[in-house]
Amino acid sequence: MTDQVRVEGKRVVLRDPRPEDVEARVRWETVEIEWQNWDWPCEGPVEALTEARVKKYAASIAASIAQPLPSPRKRLWVERIGGPLLGWVNQYHYDPEARVTWVGIDICESAYWNQGLGTEALLLWIDYLVESLDLECLRLGTWSGNQRMVCCAEKCGFVVDKVNSGSREVRGKRYDGLEFVLNQEAVSKRRGGA
Ligand SMILES: CC(C)(COP(=O)(O)OP(=O)(O)OC[C@H]1O[C@@H](n2cnc3c(N)ncnc32)[C@H](O)[C@@H]1OP(=O)(O)O)[C@@H](O)C(=O)NCCC(=O)NCCS
Repeated sequence: MTDQVRVEGKRVVLRDPRPEDVEARVRWETVEIEWQNWDWPCEGPVEALTEARVKKYAASIAASIAQPLPSPRKRLWVERIGGPLLGWVNQYHYDPEARVTWVGIDICESAYWNQGLGTEALLLWIDYLVESLDLECLRLGTWSGNQRMVCCAEKCGFVVDKVNSGSREVRGKRYDGLEFVLNQEAVSKRRGGA
């Protein structure tokens, strides 16, 4: 069994999944779902979650939690220290030649938004990845209607690198797709613990 990863901050901890996390993960698909309107919102009717679908979903999450975890991790759960599980951070499209990876974050518990917890979690995640991978830069994608994410990314040192004007339609309105970069200088600073 691989060692457990646990990255402690002041108010949140990033950690590996546990079997008991399934309950929270199902809650984020059934009861606490507002985050989905901001993450990667899409048009069209949402398929109803029947009891059978929830059970199947819970079983598939439990199975994925039981899988051996890659090192470094592609995803860690975000937990409020002394409080509930809040969401996750992830990385994807890692390109070792270009020395770049994309990162994402979802704080699914909406009662915990706008308290600086997402920024703390994303900074912990950036530091974990910068220590674990040979990175020149990190990238993050969002859309202009998600000002919480824009603000959180900027507080972490990301700057807008590419604007795809009007490329996102959300609830009948056009928004820009935004690509942020945490450039080499910022990554070096974080590597140095700045
Ligand atoms: C986006 C997300 C990760 C940010 O985490 P968070 O803990 O809420 O963020 P923080 O509190 O660290 O920072 C949010 C900032 O946005 C600001 N903000 C909130 N609403 C805003 C608005 N409408 N316009 C401008 N700024 C706004 C807050 O004031 C805060 O800045 P401050 O600390 O300077 O006051 C979290 O809200 C979330 O997961 N939301 C749902 C899913 C999602 O959007 N995921 C990202 C997909 S790309």
